[in-house]
Amino acid sequence: MENLSRRRALSLGVALGLVGVANPAGALSSTGSTGSTGSVAGAAAGTDPAWIWDDATDPLMVSMLENGHVPGINTAWASWVNNNDPLPAGLPDVFAAHLRQFNRLPAWADRTKLARAADFNRRRDTYLFMLYGLGSGIMSTVIPREAKSVYWSAGGADMQDRAAKTFTFGYDLSQLRAFEPTGQFVVTANKTRVVHAAVRHLLPQSPHWKAVADETIPISAADILVTFHSLGTFVYRKLLDWKIPFPAADQEAFLHSWQVAIHLLGVPDEHIPQTWAAAEKQAAQVLTPILTPSTEGIALAEDLLGLTAQIDLGVTRGFLNEFVRYVLNDQVGDWLGLKRDYASAALVRTAWPAFILFREGLSPVMPGTFYVFDQFVRALAMLFLNKGSSGTTTPITIPTGNRAG
Ligand code: HEM
Repeated sequence: MENLSRRRALSLGVALGLVGVANPAGALSSTGSTGSTGSVAGAAAGTDPAWIWDDATDPLMVSMLENGHVPGINTAWASWVNNNDPLPAGLPDVFAAHLRQFNRLPAWADRTKLARAADFNRRRDTYLFMLYGLGSGIMSTVIPREAKSVYWSAGGADMQDRAAKTFTFGYDLSQLRAFEPTGQFVVTANKTRVVHAAVRHLLPQSPHWKAVADETIPISAADILVTFHSLGTFVYRKLLDWKIPFPAADQEAFLHSWQVAIHLLGVPDEHIPQTWAAAEKQAAQVLTPILTPSTEGIALAEDLLGLTAQIDLGVTRGFLNEFVRYVLNDQVGDWLGLKRDYASAALVRTAWPAFILFREGLSPVMPGTFYVFDQFVRALAMLFLNKGSSGTTTPITIPTGNRAG
């Protein structure tokens, strides 16, 4: 919690819609106590998740990296994509055994809710892609631990490729059959879990990361929960704030899909929020107070906005900057040095709510700027759906080193 004053946390949280029911003054550490109630397991949370990594996967990946197995695994699992694909040949036995154990839904997964979540994701995909891409994506650059680890890991050297891979996670999560045998999400989540375990071993060997990090091992369970809040909890709040119809059954299903996702990433069930109220409370404690700029985050934000600027969204970079400021807030925009474009700012602030009302059939008046926004949201959705270019699944590969410098 660097230089946190209560007022700053409050105003930032209010602006992001992430204050929830909690008093941010109660946030006591950036690593965060998530509280002992309101979690999926319903049990008292024992160990602080800041001190939990992934005991089941981390030692395995140390051995895979140190024994030179990773390039072979990357080749072998390239064709392993669908949830019901058999495990590929050519994996080391212990690695295959690990996947056999974890590549499955938890017992508490509710397939009816997951199917509803997938349908919700499809119905709401334009808003979701936009909020994940321009909201959560840019927010991740002001989450210092995430920004520093992403920047100094191997993937940080090619942000466009990395962004495409991260989109893969969102894309697979939002597919109609994501959790079904023919979907891909369980495999994508497991590959991500393994990548994170490799990063936990690699990054501490990076002199660059060590020079800027405030931790010895990255990507704790607490960090993953922080990232979940910057994605799921943030999007949940925005959809409500924007008055997009969001029936209770959709809200529950959307939460459930995220609970399963976080479980598959290795977070112990007792730390996974059970309700949106618990999630918002946790977000106010562990996300809002830690947001702050960093050299790495500013560079990443520029890369990410450059990526979206490459496709024709029908809008200028000034509009994009102002949209980010609108979706997040001016504090974040100022931290990232997003140049002001006051004409676009006025347009976004007045015409976006009117666009939503019309699009949702809540107002008969079509705003004059309808087509500007329509092209914008469609283009962003296409960026996700096509993963930027080819439309084929971007392979997730385990890194074997860090960013050189
Ligand atoms: C890799 C998603 C949390 C740091 C990945 C990948 C995905 C992903 C899909 C694989 C694609 C790639 O190689 O870039 C997620 C999700 C999270 C989460 C959904 C939580 C809900 C975190 C956190 C951190 C982090 C909390 C750090 C604080 C990284 C790093 C890589 C990575 C450094 C490797 C990049 C590389 O060098 O290839 N993550 N992540 N992630 N993630 Fe995460």
